Amino acid sequence: MTQRPIRKAVLPVAGLGTRVLPATKAIPKEMLPVFDRPAIQYVVDEALDAGIEHIVFITGRNKNAIEDYFDRAFELEETLRAKGKTDLLADLARSTPPPGAASFVRQQAPLGLGHAIWCARDVIGAEPFAILLPDMLTMAAPSCLSQMVAAYQQVGGNVIAVEQTDDPSLYGIIDPAARDGRLIEMRGMVEKPAAGTEPSNLFITGRYILQPEIFALLEQQGAGAGGEIQLTDAMARLMQSQPFHAVEYDGRSYDCGDRIGYLRAIAAFALADARYGGAAAAALTEALGEAARKRPVAAE
Ligand code: G1P
Repeated sequence: MTQRPIRKAVLPVAGLGTRVLPATKAIPKEMLPVFDRPAIQYVVDEALDAGIEHIVFITGRNKNAIEDYFDRAFELEETLRAKGKTDLLADLARSTPPPGAASFVRQQAPLGLGHAIWCARDVIGAEPFAILLPDMLTMAAPSCLSQMVAAYQQVGGNVIAVEQTDDPSLYGIIDPAARDGRLIEMRGMVEKPAAGTEPSNLFITGRYILQPEIFALLEQQGAGAGGEIQLTDAMARLMQSQPFHAVEYDGRSYDCGDRIGYLRAIAAFALADARYGGAAAAALTEALGEAARKRPVAAE
């Protein structure tokens, strides 16, 4: 069956980043570098790699650096051109979406992820679309969203990516029913279940392909976990009237929302870098060796 193409993606970037303060006091958390580029660049690359043509950023106060980052920087480009730094110029060009391919919508109050997505309704219109949460970086080949688009082309409807976790209380968790390879049918899903009540250990990794009917459900969605309007609650309702699958994708997610997840992401992306991976491995091994030598010997 031919499915309607996924042309647009929503990237909610309005969050305050309180879990990584003070780093995020004056810089949007999405602009913090993961090895050699801002975290948000990996997510935009993942979207473009999966065939996305237009990115809708849901922003908030103090997020102007993101809009500037995805714009051209004339003075910088001129300086690099004058100095003959063509490699750097090409890098800059690669990180800039084509004219007209990015929109910025303000979420005026932090009412939750569901509300942030609802703010994109006019820009998305009546077509299926993707959502990528920029806190979560994925490492996969093909990319996580590309694997989801392939699944969507088979089964249509709505598709979310999932992965196993040791701590289901931190995430949206699915209730799996039948399984066909990596494709999972679901009975339901729940946002941040209390410890011991989780229906599985499969968490929603922050990559979604949704039908536009989600917007009407979000409009009426009351506050859920944490007192916020939750996307997961609206999806659980959408599931009652439309096909909905999860894909346990082949790859790994890195949750940059906290310090250790962020550190893991930096190490993983540095080690995977084609040019610097070897040097990164040597540097990390040396740092671990030094730390082990300094650590006091545990008492018998
Ligand atoms: C959000 C979603 C949750 C998902 C998570 C992935 O939660 O609500 O379902 O598992 O992102 O990062 P948040 O991290 O915003 O609390």
